[in-house]
Amino acid sequence: MTDMHMPAADARLGQIAASQHSKSVSLRNVGKTFGETRVLRDLTLDVHAGEFLVLLGESGCGKTTALRIIAGLESATEGTVHVGERDVTNDLPRDRDVAMVFQSYALYPHKTVFENIAYPLIVRKRAKGEIEAAVREVAASVQLEPLLTRYPRQLSGGQRQRVALARAIIRRPAAFLMDEPLSNLDAKLRGHMRAELKHMQHELDITTIYVTHDQIEAMTLAHRVALIDKGVLQQLDTPARIYSDPANLFVAGFIGSPPMNFLRGTLGGHRFEAQDLSLAADVDHRGDATLGVRPEECALVAASEGEMRGRIYSVELIGDHSLVTLNVGEQKVIVKVSNMFAGEIGSEAGVRVNRERIYFFDQQTGQRIRQK
Ligand SMILES: Nc1ncnc2c1ncn2[C@@H]1O[C@H](COP(=O)(O)OP(=O)(O)O)[C@@H](O)[C@H]1O
Ligand SMILES: [Mg+2]
Repeated sequence: MTDMHMPAADARLGQIAASQHSKSVSLRNVGKTFGETRVLRDLTLDVHAGEFLVLLGESGCGKTTALRIIAGLESATEGTVHVGERDVTNDLPRDRDVAMVFQSYALYPHKTVFENIAYPLIVRKRAKGEIEAAVREVAASVQLEPLLTRYPRQLSGGQRQRVALARAIIRRPAAFLMDEPLSNLDAKLRGHMRAELKHMQHELDITTIYVTHDQIEAMTLAHRVALIDKGVLQQLDTPARIYSDPANLFVAGFIGSPPMNFLRGTLGGHRFEAQDLSLAADVDHRGDATLGVRPEECALVAASEGEMRGRIYSVELIGDHSLVTLNVGEQKVIVKVSNMFAGEIGSEAGVRVNRERIYFFDQQTGQRIRQK
């Protein structure tokens, strides 16, 4: 059934894609203050045509504000917004050719699914036959055809989400703007919709700027991730590079679960040293520094081996693996191990780190100290 259905849906998505006019979106040196509060600082982003870019960061870091500035629902205090070649900084939202999908879906409760999807074309006074054909095509692409006569209250969260998407797709915008569109869904449906969204974006090839605080969503959906902290862009990179080549302590600590281990110590004479910890460091930097190493890049070995020595503080069975926390001097280190691990709390162990996957950071600035 599914196998029969999917290729047909894909073919229809393909037709929609052929008529899309996806464009690049750029923010140049955008700043935003609300009264005394600075929310965005010198934000520059170039989102390529057809790219899926995720704006990621903690609640309150300015993601929604950035999206609303692109949509024209908020004005930038400084800087410019471009859609394609066009400077839209002073244009009204409806003249910007972008479609926003909100967290709350914002469907019209007294309109049917058909009417909700058709709404952007009705507002534009398109011919009835054209609207009918467009709604059927878009509804098919997100598998809503059987539900066109229902009202929003008669739909599940996932179905409502698809109606909101269909209403955005039907406009054939230059770009989609999505503000935490999956955050109201339960975990299982969120996983399902994530895969659906990724597939749909791939087929439509439409520029998408997607806001989330969820690192898993960001890593799985994005072509590139823009990680923001307190209104300042920290790194703009592919998910793989954000993970394996973090620019600073904030990025390194934000991505990964459990998070990267951070150990304070001292760099000098091409070594990094702390209590019960010593390893070679191919850097010229001297002085206080922080070592970063992910739990999955550490292994437990005999107490006399490895670069660190500690005592097991706790062992947690997660399912397909276990997490072992050790005290190394006064600091804690988490090591990801096999779910067969049977070490005793309180016993001594060594930790071997993957030398190819260690990071050093300046303790004062948080900036990465790169090895040669
Ligand atoms: N209209 C507003 N007036 C004053 N402060 C605002 C307004 N909108 C947002 N803020 C503040 O700006 C900051 C960023 O908000 P927001 O962009 O919604 O963050 P995010 O979407 O990342 O959670 C927050 O501190 C928020 O309180
Ligand atoms: Mg927000």
